[in-house]
Amino acid sequence: MYSNPANRLFLIVFRDAFSFVRKGLPVELSDFARCVLLSKQLDRKLAPPAEPMSDGIPHEAERLMRPARTAQLQFAAQRTAPKMPKAASLKDPSKRAIAHHIMANHELQALEIMAMVILAFPQAPAGFRQGVGEIMLDEQRHTRLHVQRATELGIRFGELPVNGYLWTKAVEYSSVLEYVCGLPLVFEGGNLDHTAEFEQYFLDAGDLRSAGIMRSIHRDEIRHVEFGLHWLRKLKPAGMDDFTAWEQNLKWPLRPSKARGKLFLDEPRRAAGMTEEFINRLREWKEENDD
Ligand SMILES: [Fe+2]
Ligand SMILES: [Fe+2]
Repeated sequence: MYSNPANRLFLIVFRDAFSFVRKGLPVELSDFARCVLLSKQLDRKLAPPAEPMSDGIPHEAERLMRPARTAQLQFAAQRTAPKMPKAASLKDPSKRAIAHHIMANHELQALEIMAMVILAFPQAPAGFRQGVGEIMLDEQRHTRLHVQRATELGIRFGELPVNGYLWTKAVEYSSVLEYVCGLPLVFEGGNLDHTAEFEQYFLDAGDLRSAGIMRSIHRDEIRHVEFGLHWLRKLKPAGMDDFTAWEQNLKWPLRPSKARGKLFLDEPRRAAGMTEEFINRLREWKEENDD
């Protein structure tokens, strides 16, 4: 239905903006990304489009410096959002609700960053754009899972201040390669450990539902890291090893140590396709001022 640009313009002018999401109509990836970034309402941001999305209409590079959000979900000033509760405190349901609230905001930022990347890099390879579009559906689901669990445990999403840390790092990505090195290989890479840690914390607290959410997200995250690694290998300079290419495309304060948790799990990293050399260099990477 979008094959004729004149028809498409007609549709955009006369339809309720982003109504395709509710009606389940076929949708262009760039329109879906705009819906995620420009809709203030959470249910609009998290509404899955009909699949598969098409990506056939060229668009200019668009860069939004801040996603639209409701007043309650605006990024708060630094150090005003609650810190992640300590593991030992998670027997308390209200602390678990805070943990889910924080993680919901991480997932929502990942979704918004991916939408930003779709709009900022129209010339990126078609397979990369399609893959990001598919992962966005996972990030929508992850956000919904955490929002729902936080609510069940007594805190509505937006009741607490939220930070914008992931987003502020993402506005600095100036290429697809920098994005791949940043979000998938630092933050989602580190989440391979964090999701397993929190699964165990929630099990220790007797909260099987919350633990199950972490297990499900952990499994998806392996595929998301695999996607990042695949595109690192495609986009890195010829002859350069994966780890060196990754490290060279990180902007401070992003660095390999940010891609590890308290636990360091080899197995999900192997499952994501990291070589033994990559895993060993990541495990042993030290801050410059360490001994
Ligand atoms: Fe996620
Ligand atoms: Fe992810």
